[in-house]
Amino acid sequence: MQHVAVIAGATGAAAKRLVEVLLADPAWEVVGLCRRPPALKRERLTYIACDLTDAASTRLALARTPQATHLFYTARAQFSDASIGVEDVAGNRAMLQNLLDGAEAACPGLQHVHLVEGTKWYGMHLGAMRLPAHEDDPRHMPPNFYYDQQDLLSGRAEGKRWTWSASRPGFLYDFAPERPRNLVPLIGAWAGICAELGLPLDFPGKPACYDALMEATDATQLARGMKWMATASAARNEPFNVTDGGLFRWSRLWPKIARLYGLECGSPRPLNLGRWMADKGPLWETIVKHHNLVAQPMEAVVTWNFGDFLWGLEHDVVSSMTKSRLAGFHDTIDTEARILAHLQRYREARLLP
Ligand SMILES: NC(=O)c1ccc[n+]([C@@H]2O[C@H](COP(=O)([O-])OP(=O)(O)OC[C@H]3O[C@@H](n4cnc5c(N)ncnc54)[C@H](OP(=O)(O)O)[C@@H]3O)[C@@H](O)[C@H]2O)c1
Repeated sequence: MQHVAVIAGATGAAAKRLVEVLLADPAWEVVGLCRRPPALKRERLTYIACDLTDAASTRLALARTPQATHLFYTARAQFSDASIGVEDVAGNRAMLQNLLDGAEAACPGLQHVHLVEGTKWYGMHLGAMRLPAHEDDPRHMPPNFYYDQQDLLSGRAEGKRWTWSASRPGFLYDFAPERPRNLVPLIGAWAGICAELGLPLDFPGKPACYDALMEATDATQLARGMKWMATASAARNEPFNVTDGGLFRWSRLWPKIARLYGLECGSPRPLNLGRWMADKGPLWETIVKHHNLVAQPMEAVVTWNFGDFLWGLEHDVVSSMTKSRLAGFHDTIDTEARILAHLQRYREARLLP
């Protein structure tokens, strides 16, 4: 096999499509690491159970993959304080360090290590950010675990045979029924509930968000970007933004969603969704029956708190794709069309009304 990828966090949002994109190329074999590997059998794909917070467990897992040529780090530690947007710096850094220690000890043919970061590098979650965000913009006031992880990775790569890269995607979205924290079911569940109640499709976020310039990253787009970074010489030892390549506004997309659901398009009317939708479980059960959906509780389909974050942003979110394009990554996705296509796929699978 030409390339053997070890993906740490292989079942997560950032990695699911990476597994597919790599396996679509016969030159790649994939080994996925996570604590709860799926019982999935597929050619050129194996999973190894591993707890990245445990150095010994990680060392043992990597000792089983001495042929690894590429590492992709797409895991994340448990969120520590969601209320102020601070994630666990020490925990996230230690997980990456355990992986690097294990790989350097066991994988003599290691060529490249890729790290997934995100637009939070630019403080997108903290308020207005410098726009468009460029990869070499000054950092915001720490803590930000991406800074510690990238510093660790770039420092470790110095003087080594292997190189590194990092991707900075925006909001990831996908057809991912196993993942309720995803903007596609958020839109579909909201629209389905509005339809059931005979309401117009209001926008339940901040008025400034409705008209803000936004970006997002389809999970397959990120996967293609990661594969490119891991193999292109122009991407060595550099971070790159990876968005769909264009921008959108909720105010432009909203009438299209209203049309898809046969609803009148409403206007921005902010709600705290986490609180306001807490009593909608019984209504969801009615919708499930009414539309003959796969029976599952509303919380398994949609995470309303995520909507409060996504639709509570009152500033533009724009990352420059110039560096990626000049270095050779040209894939582009029409975000509006792709969101609508994913919605349609959920509906066809009877997961959303
Ligand atoms: N999701 C987004 O919208 C988004 C957007 C931009 C950037 N990002 C970034 O992408 C990175 C990955 O996030 P994600 O959203 O893809 O995470 P996720 O969906 O929560 O997936 C995390 C993955 O890591 C594994 N994992 C977690 N703890 C582990 C441990 N102790 N040992 C081994 N494996 C472990 C999980 O599997 P097990 O639970 O089975 O261990 C899972 O495969 C993060 O840096 C995040 O900030 C995400």
